[in-house]
Amino acid sequence: MKKCSVIVGSLRKNSNSLAVANTVKGFLGETGEFEVTFPEIGNLPLFSEDLEANPPQSWVNFRNEIASSDCLLFITPEYNRGYPACIKNALDVGSRPNGKSIWSGKPGGVIGVSPGKIGAALSVAQLKQILSFLNIPIMNQPECYIQADGNFSGGAVGDGSTKDFIKLYTTKYIEFVTK
Ligand SMILES: Cc1cc2nc3c(=O)[nH]c(=O)nc-3n(C[C@H](O)[C@H](O)[C@H](O)COP(=O)(O)O)c2cc1C
Repeated sequence: MKKCSVIVGSLRKNSNSLAVANTVKGFLGETGEFEVTFPEIGNLPLFSEDLEANPPQSWVNFRNEIASSDCLLFITPEYNRGYPACIKNALDVGSRPNGKSIWSGKPGGVIGVSPGKIGAALSVAQLKQILSFLNIPIMNQPECYIQADGNFSGGAVGDGSTKDFIKLYTTKYIEFVTK
């Protein structure tokens, strides 16, 4: 059983990103080979080195959860043509103490979700740049940019081509993280 941590870059209750995360979780779960968790990132105090001597419990829990993961998936909206601050803060928290980053070497994927026509593509590009620095091997193909419009309802991805593509992406993701 592989443990997959899905980092959801929206703190909103009816988030489209969360809807995509739940859809991927369903497809991964169907294989019987993945345990999927959504680590909490909304409760992590903003990173400051001053807190490092006595780190907040939420930082410790988050670091332990990622450290025990086999693979990662980032699902991000786009905020002002970039990825949201909650993801950056989580990346920073996980990257310290210096030399003890919990990210390095864990394979991952990135999915962008936005109502905009370019489906959070700039957010994804920016995020991939930082994930590369953190030594997270990222699946580059297929890319997954989801335009959230009529294909979402009631906090879920509806049946149709978007869900079909998420299924294809998940199949490729499984190949990538298990090879
Ligand atoms: C501060 C802010 C900035 C945003 N900037 C962008 C943007 O640059 N590009 C875009 O496509 N959507 C932008 N949006 C719209 C978000 O993509 C949209 O609210 C999305 O549904 C948020 O993701 P969620 O549904 O997972 O919460 C922005 C929204 C907010 C709140």
